Amino acid sequence: MREKLIIGNWKMNIPNVDVTEYGNKLQSISTIAKKNNVNVGIAVPSVFLDKIGKAFADYFIVAAQNIHFENKGAFTGEISPEMLESLNIKYSIVGHSERRTYFGETNETCNKKISALIAKQIRPIYCVGETLQQYENNLSKEVVKAQLTEGLKCIKNISGIVVAYEPVWSIGTGRSASAQIAQEMCQFIRSTITELYGNEQSEKVVIQYGGSVKKENVKQYIECPDIDGVLVGGASLDIEEFVSLIKEVI
Ligand code: PGA
Repeated sequence: MREKLIIGNWKMNIPNVDVTEYGNKLQSISTIAKKNNVNVGIAVPSVFLDKIGKAFADYFIVAAQNIHFENKGAFTGEISPEMLESLNIKYSIVGHSERRTYFGETNETCNKKISALIAKQIRPIYCVGETLQQYENNLSKEVVKAQLTEGLKCIKNISGIVVAYEPVWSIGTGRSASAQIAQEMCQFIRSTITELYGNEQSEKVVIQYGGSVKKENVKQYIECPDIDGVLVGGASLDIEEFVSLIKEVI
């Protein structure tokens, strides 16, 4: 049975965090969640990876929000998979729509990042999803298929990859996709992965939905057969809210 995976994405929020209270509360709920086959964690700004990783990576997932695909070199401002490895960080988001929109990330750069992470045994959380305009023009499947085909190109074993379906029109807008749309797209993602890699691998791939997930709507997604978890932005910033959301799932 596939695990359930709930990851909070802090983005560039929570400055100079006192992580003790947040971490302790997440640690408690994580211990209970694990017993129910639910893994929880947070993707934090890179400046906090060391501190939060040291304190809590044994208890819940601590993930990076982005990496460069090279391990070292003259890339001012970037962090590398090797650096994550040295901090014992085991997950990184790749290709979040904000990275694609504001920082020029493409399927091709995502592909390099995914390869580089896998080489270091770090699990990529690969974000895919269409814009509002693409959605309104009925292009969702075409766009997502290209993101998968190009983003996962030449990756041999993809069973450890997490794919997060995040329609751009639902991120931070309060306009979440209906469970029906989310399931249809996540099923499409799984069947595309089956076409590319076969059934055995696609059955192992964890697929998340993301976009305005909150405690009031999380259950409808988790109950869908092809949705194994959620990527949560705004509702993960407040620990009480995030814990309530996790409680809905376990
Ligand atoms: P949101 O963000 O939950 O605030 O919509 C989701 C995400 O960007 O992963």
